[in-house]
Amino acid sequence: MTQSKLELIRNSIITIPNYPKQGILFRDITSLLEDPIAFRTSIDLLIEHYKDKKIDKVVGTEARGFIFAAPLALALGVGFVPVRKPNKLPRHVFREEYQLEYGTDTLEMHCDAIKPNERVLIIDDLLATGGTVAATAKLIQKAGGIAEDAAFVINLPDLQGKTKLTAMGINCYTLVD
Ligand code: PRP
Ligand code: ADE
Repeated sequence: MTQSKLELIRNSIITIPNYPKQGILFRDITSLLEDPIAFRTSIDLLIEHYKDKKIDKVVGTEARGFIFAAPLALALGVGFVPVRKPNKLPRHVFREEYQLEYGTDTLEMHCDAIKPNERVLIIDDLLATGGTVAATAKLIQKAGGIAEDAAFVINLPDLQGKTKLTAMGINCYTLVD
């Protein structure tokens, strides 16, 4: 049953070669989002996995992480916190630099978004090198939160992000490789 749901999700994702740079196989979730059954199934699997895990907050990373994090937070009955690219958040922020598969960037989170000892689930659409979520976990820790769980619709196993995050004490749940 779960296997057929995962196949549905996998088949809904289009791959674009050489985007945004030569040599990158871009896994495009917009085709998944356009399919309401595939979108709903991906959210339902995340709800099923985390509903009894005593999560206090869901953090989503800009931009594609927001799409999956917000409906999951609502379904779990907890707050949603956006982690954003630089200079988008209006109040005091914590800031972390990180590396992408194809470049570097900075992420920010409001200092008061996470309370001390809150158990935080990080959501992103895709796990590549793990740089985005490693930086996000550091932001959560700066606020005093516990960042031990992260989930992704897509994992790119060749880039070993899961190994990197596991070594940081983050349990990763991924739907499709
Ligand atoms: C993509 C993707 C993940 C991240 C994965 O985001 O949505 O957030 O890269 O890569 P990593 O595991 O190597 O960090 P991107 O920064 O391209 O931003 P976008 O969501 O705004 O398109
Ligand atoms: N983010 C980082 N690597 C990516 C890839 N290969 N496809 C889609 N998004 C990405």
